[in-house]
Amino acid sequence: MFDTLKPQPADKILQLMAMFREDPRADKIDLGVGVYKDATGLTPVMRAVKAAEQRLWETERTKTYTGLAGEPDYHAAMAGLILGAGFDAARMAAAATPGGTGAIRQGLELIRLAAPGATVWLPDPTWPNHPSIIAYLGMKSATYRYFDGETRAVDFTGMAEDLGRAAPGDVVLLHGCCHNPTGANLNLAQWGEVADILAKRGAIPFIDLAYQGFGDGLDADAAGTRLIAACLPEVMIAASCSKNFGIYRERAGLLIALTSPASRTVTQGTLAFLNRQNYSFPPDHGARLVTMILTDQEFRADWQAELEAVRLSMLGLREQLANELRRVTGSDRFGFLAQHRGMFSRLGATPEQVERLRAEHGIYMVGDSRLNIAGLNATTVPILAQAIVDCGI
Ligand code: LMR
Repeated sequence: MFDTLKPQPADKILQLMAMFREDPRADKIDLGVGVYKDATGLTPVMRAVKAAEQRLWETERTKTYTGLAGEPDYHAAMAGLILGAGFDAARMAAAATPGGTGAIRQGLELIRLAAPGATVWLPDPTWPNHPSIIAYLGMKSATYRYFDGETRAVDFTGMAEDLGRAAPGDVVLLHGCCHNPTGANLNLAQWGEVADILAKRGAIPFIDLAYQGFGDGLDADAAGTRLIAACLPEVMIAASCSKNFGIYRERAGLLIALTSPASRTVTQGTLAFLNRQNYSFPPDHGARLVTMILTDQEFRADWQAELEAVRLSMLGLREQLANELRRVTGSDRFGFLAQHRGMFSRLGATPEQVERLRAEHGIYMVGDSRLNIAGLNATTVPILAQAIVDCGI
């Protein structure tokens, strides 16, 4: 049986992660995988997570199964964070999932069950695992223009034009904030226009919200999602707690499907069914910590303060890098780095230049020249800026 297997294409981001680990150079710099690191290169356990873990250790009396779709308290706490305190529970079906990727996968499976012929529209570019999972599930996809390689901003005219061609019942995947891999994001007026287009076309938004709190703040980063949720009758959201709670390996994610109140029960039942088919019960530890943090005033305040410090440190690095590049190139052509938001920016280097950065300078970034700003610190910013010049970028 197994001799019939063909090698699968390696995930480029994870492959890069492995290459970095194996590189013996002491001064190597990892700007690859989307993981937050502090100035010492550590991905810290957040204070509120530690405190919640301690309380959980002291108070948890059982590890028996949770609900098949996870705990309702987790759904409610996360929905409040994403949609705001006044969210309409009568419209909401939700399932806890293993991380944000699990939410994407379960969401796509839900679409495949409900509308097998639907095309899923993806931004060009997008996180490479989006098209990979869609192809694996045998679903149809199309791309819409998103990023202007010249200005390094959103090509909104192209985006609006392409989304205007979505058919009724098609699904449009949108990055809720901190677009991965470009760092270029919609403003609120553009979110409003997207909502209008989708409403006119009868298309359903599927929002990937993996970096809430990393861009302009917790509420600002959810503003587009909230606007879409208020304007459209059916909305799907895949949320990740990996980054904003720093609990990558705990695999805490949530899939939300906003429906008409009449379809809510069947949608909720289908989400539970899909969990059962794929892995039965979702992981609980991370989801429970998130619930504790979001519902305990002290934990929550401390978490928000630490998350805000993380966000500001990334913004500071963006400013520093843009300034340093202005100094060494004598031009403002990297000014976009300070405008982008989130962990990532697409630098605009060729694959050859990216390879030179790795081979000659030990600087790792994804082949499309996506760099993780959080992989830098005050000392490595000037090193990167000089290497960018040396590689002719
Ligand atoms: C990334 O884009 O680097 C992260 O979302 C990690 C991943 O799973 O690819």
